[in-house]
Amino acid sequence: MSSRTASSDGPRGGVLIVDFGAQYCQLIARRVRELGVYSRITVPERALFQFEHMRPEAVILSGGPRSVYASDAPDLDPAILERAVAIGAPVLGICYGLQWMAQHTGGKVTPARAGAEYGRTELEVVDASGFLAGVRDGGIVWMSHGDKVETLGPGFDVLAKSAPCPFAVVADRKRRFFGLQFHPEVAHTEDGGQMLENFVRQIAGCRDDWSPGNIADNKVAAVKELVGDEGEVVLGLSGGVDSSVAAVLIHRAIGARLHCVFVDNGLLRHGEREGVESLFRDHYHMDLKVVDASEQFLGELAGVVDPERKRKIIGHIFVDVFRAEARSLRNAKFLGQGTLYPDVIESVAAHGGATSTIKSHHNVGGLPEDLDMTLVEPLRDLFKDEVRALGRELGLPASLVDRQPFPGPGLAVRCLGEVRRERLESLRGADRIVREEIEKEGLQRGLWQYFAVYVPQKSVGVKGDARVYEDVCVLRLVSSLDAMTADWELLPAAILARISNRILNEVAGFSRVCLDISSKPPATIEWE
Ligand code: XMP
Repeated sequence: MSSRTASSDGPRGGVLIVDFGAQYCQLIARRVRELGVYSRITVPERALFQFEHMRPEAVILSGGPRSVYASDAPDLDPAILERAVAIGAPVLGICYGLQWMAQHTGGKVTPARAGAEYGRTELEVVDASGFLAGVRDGGIVWMSHGDKVETLGPGFDVLAKSAPCPFAVVADRKRRFFGLQFHPEVAHTEDGGQMLENFVRQIAGCRDDWSPGNIADNKVAAVKELVGDEGEVVLGLSGGVDSSVAAVLIHRAIGARLHCVFVDNGLLRHGEREGVESLFRDHYHMDLKVVDASEQFLGELAGVVDPERKRKIIGHIFVDVFRAEARSLRNAKFLGQGTLYPDVIESVAAHGGATSTIKSHHNVGGLPEDLDMTLVEPLRDLFKDEVRALGRELGLPASLVDRQPFPGPGLAVRCLGEVRRERLESLRGADRIVREEIEKEGLQRGLWQYFAVYVPQKSVGVKGDARVYEDVCVLRLVSSLDAMTADWELLPAAILARISNRILNEVAGFSRVCLDISSKPPATIEWE
């Protein structure tokens, strides 16, 4: 990729989290940020480099699936401990992190055998001051470890234990090293939040200045600095949360030098294009170009039934259209994108090896290498919930900030089989009714996604005394936390009845409405 990523490497200070391959690493980062403190994740190989760059106020060493004495264990230069002491940054080791710290400070780690602990256990607090201030004796903590610290090195004391684990919480107060054999970041650990708060705020002394207001100010300043007094930015606006928040931030920084491009691919929901035009052009007065490429998209999709081919065709045309627009704006040397932190986090791969490559993620479908533009990605260090909070701070309407996810290929992956205009028309009508009826009752708050699917399977019906032979409309209503797993949801019968009645009466093409009662896995949320 010849485009240069010139976005900031994040602020200085805050908490540096070293990822030893923990399942919960992102959760640690989010917990710290919920305390109002910036945090950043790095892999062990790059930790010392990041440490020098970031000059963190505290370091957290995450858990991990390996044994510290295994030959393929992720390793970290122990010099980080000395460097942390030198700049007064306390270090907290969690699970594997504690074991790693013990191993490098004169302690010993062995397989736990009888001492292996998985799941809940009670904490016996020995010293309730400092790190454990406000933490209940007898509180439940959540353990998951097969190794244990057998002996501690000099300088360490025990702050708490649990029945099978004599070193549940330990500390070397002088060097300010702390260790937990359990996971404070998971919800099941009672007072885990208190421990993290004690560490980050009281012990490390981090200020709680990671707030939407501050983030907005800092991002605007960073975009101004990056783009300069004359630079122009092109941004593909999809109307989704990420590109919308990125657009408003960049617009705040450089005003009319931001050029937004919205591509109408003919696969949008009812009112989507008009909504984007009215918000960004009429309300924010942004330079917004709407490119109607629906003929091209629908033309190239004609006769295509394979879902993956549909996706490829759509991605490909999008790039062509966008590239033509970017080229027409000759002065634009910058490309704005709504890339989020989970897309760029360096992480330890599942097999235990660390990857130091940062994904060059393009949420506009893989942009061409020869665009040669500098990326402006103001959301690169933010999690989705932080982007939503920022959107609210910037005054974006709740209907946009809290809106349900909508796939990039749009209605094409909800229109099974061949994508035809009249099918899209029916699907759009049904989807509008589903949204209207659910949102009227405020029921969307309990749903992750709620939409209609067009299934081109004819079935017999009777309309106005005449026999009809028409297709099936399926309702997909799911709850989820992260789209990785999902469950089907039931709405009150009266609402379902109203949705079904309205679809069968107001929308052409359907003789039947069905409800999808499949969880994910095995079914995916979308039908294609
Ligand atoms: P599935 O269907 O795999 O979807 O359970 C998980 C989440 O991802 C969304 N999705 C997509 N988003 N491009 C996107 O931008 C796609 O091709 C795509 N496919 C699925 C889906 O809506 C759900 O939130």
